[in-house]
Amino acid sequence: MCGIVGYTGPREAFPVILKGLKRLEYRGYDSAGVALLNQDHLNVYKKKGKVADLEEAIIGKDLQANIGIGHTRWATHGEPSDRNAHPHTSANGSLAMIHNGIIENYAQIKSELLNKGYSFKSDTDTEVLINFIEYIQSNNDCSLEEALRIALKRVTGAYCILLIEKDNPDTIIAARKGSPLVIGIGKGRDEHFLASDASPIIEYTKEVVYVNDYELAIVKPGELILKNLGNEKVTPYVTKLDMELAAIEKGGYDHFMLKEIFEQPSTIYDCLRGRLDAAAGTITMSGVEQNIEQLKNANRIMIVACGTSWHAGLVAEYIFEELCRIPVEVEYASEFRYRNPIVNKGDVIIAISQSGETADTLVALEKAKENGAFIFGIVNVVGSSISRISHAGAYTHAGPEIGVASTKAFTGQLAVIMMMALKIAIEKGSITPEYYKKLLLELQDVPEKVDAILKNAEELQVIADKYKDASDFLFLGRGYNFPVALEGALKLKEISYIHAEGYPAAEMKHGPIALVTSQLPVVFVATKDSYHEKIVSNMQEIKARRGKIISIITDGDTVSPTLSDDWFSIPMADELIAPILSVIPLQLLSYYTGIAKGIDVDKPRNLAKSVTVE
Ligand code: F6R
Repeated sequence: MCGIVGYTGPREAFPVILKGLKRLEYRGYDSAGVALLNQDHLNVYKKKGKVADLEEAIIGKDLQANIGIGHTRWATHGEPSDRNAHPHTSANGSLAMIHNGIIENYAQIKSELLNKGYSFKSDTDTEVLINFIEYIQSNNDCSLEEALRIALKRVTGAYCILLIEKDNPDTIIAARKGSPLVIGIGKGRDEHFLASDASPIIEYTKEVVYVNDYELAIVKPGELILKNLGNEKVTPYVTKLDMELAAIEKGGYDHFMLKEIFEQPSTIYDCLRGRLDAAAGTITMSGVEQNIEQLKNANRIMIVACGTSWHAGLVAEYIFEELCRIPVEVEYASEFRYRNPIVNKGDVIIAISQSGETADTLVALEKAKENGAFIFGIVNVVGSSISRISHAGAYTHAGPEIGVASTKAFTGQLAVIMMMALKIAIEKGSITPEYYKKLLLELQDVPEKVDAILKNAEELQVIADKYKDASDFLFLGRGYNFPVALEGALKLKEISYIHAEGYPAAEMKHGPIALVTSQLPVVFVATKDSYHEKIVSNMQEIKARRGKIISIITDGDTVSPTLSDDWFSIPMADELIAPILSVIPLQLLSYYTGIAKGIDVDKPRNLAKSVTVE
């Protein structure tokens, strides 16, 4: 949610910032802007729309500078517009700032500043904060760093901010709480790159420092100082990025979403690699091994997540209860954090997150951790905030996911969940060695089966073209495929803007069946499992009411096609593993529907990839 980039060093800052903004655009695309400082000359350019609109708007402008900051916005306070775009400048024109997050008490600070004679050009909380900093600086006659520290002690909310000042034309001051910030250290240590994630940095350096909450960074070409809000120095912890440039490029595909769907055979393989050894009958997961007593003796597992990751959590509920015989509750992080949940000693909290930065999930975990809960993180982005606050965890190793709709991260999450549950179950003795071995072998075969599904992708393009003008869709599934139905509906609505609802197939009779007409496409996730006969009966019920049936079925099923208007067949798998396969056709159905409707599937309206505000 909002992408920020900064550069200070010997290079021209603008090209570095522009390229960085393009890489971070998935975080928000309501407006984009840059502030460039050339000696005491501060040039600010900003534009409603995408980074490409900014690029066009600044042709012929003075872009000369060795220091600058840039922002791509997902609007929170104030509509998307030129005047609400970042960077914002202070009233005296000496400071420029970009911000990712929300200043919750901005209205109160704004009214104080209005009383002191300030006026505002935008509707943003960011402009309030920068003027508050300016006010503190001029009234206390202190440095910008000191003024920032004082201001941050007053503000509530979340922020990652970058600030530049005319009087210090080689320095960027940064601060974070709740929103991510990574600083790349240039090869000769004479330049620094600041960004919301590593993607704008990767081609310049692999040495990075992840800034922690309540830390300030004072960044000059040859110097990086970290301090806490008490003005004490903190030693920067330099880590090496484990990411290649190719991973964040489209690699010949039209869209990141399609590339990421097609990457799944290899991302799932990467997730299993080094962990699953089906021949030896072993799963190696150090985060699970080191905490096996806690995990296998858990009284209860609480899963906390949002969106697609929450759907992975629902699949996990079925799997953990079946294999480990541990009760599981799956919580929306945004609800969990605001009620007064009962977390007892002996409970384990599993956080699932692609980005590792989702504000609701992060804060929910912080609260649970304060109450003594044990946190296990299933996260994709290495070094992200959730991975760092978890006691233990397992990365999904899906690589950078840039398309706004989550695809390969979801299947990676399911693969981790399956390995984790199997490992706990065999240690606990809650499954037989024979069933354990069978599931290991099945899991090992998943990448190949995903590959087989992707070979038939055009069949889904045909189905998408046929139903693209429908105004509503219903997605139905039972058991392990119920969360997959929810995920199919979420994917379709975010990528094609068609209203879609997911339901447990049997629950359909308790209300949604009223929607069924000959105009309503109903997608059944109806692979061969212990519920199959039941879901076939549900198909009959829809057919009797002339609904259009699209079914996702298992190879060899001869009954479902007789009831379906269209169907797509996937390889046979154990029902616990089927969701990793059955979701793939639904990802493709959404992608092709979005494309058929001319939608920018990588950047669907109103969305952002990493939801770092609550
Ligand atoms: C949907 C989607 C979102 C995310 C949700 C949580 O395609 O991507 O629903 O799943 O915002 O994000 P993470 O997993 O990063 O915590």
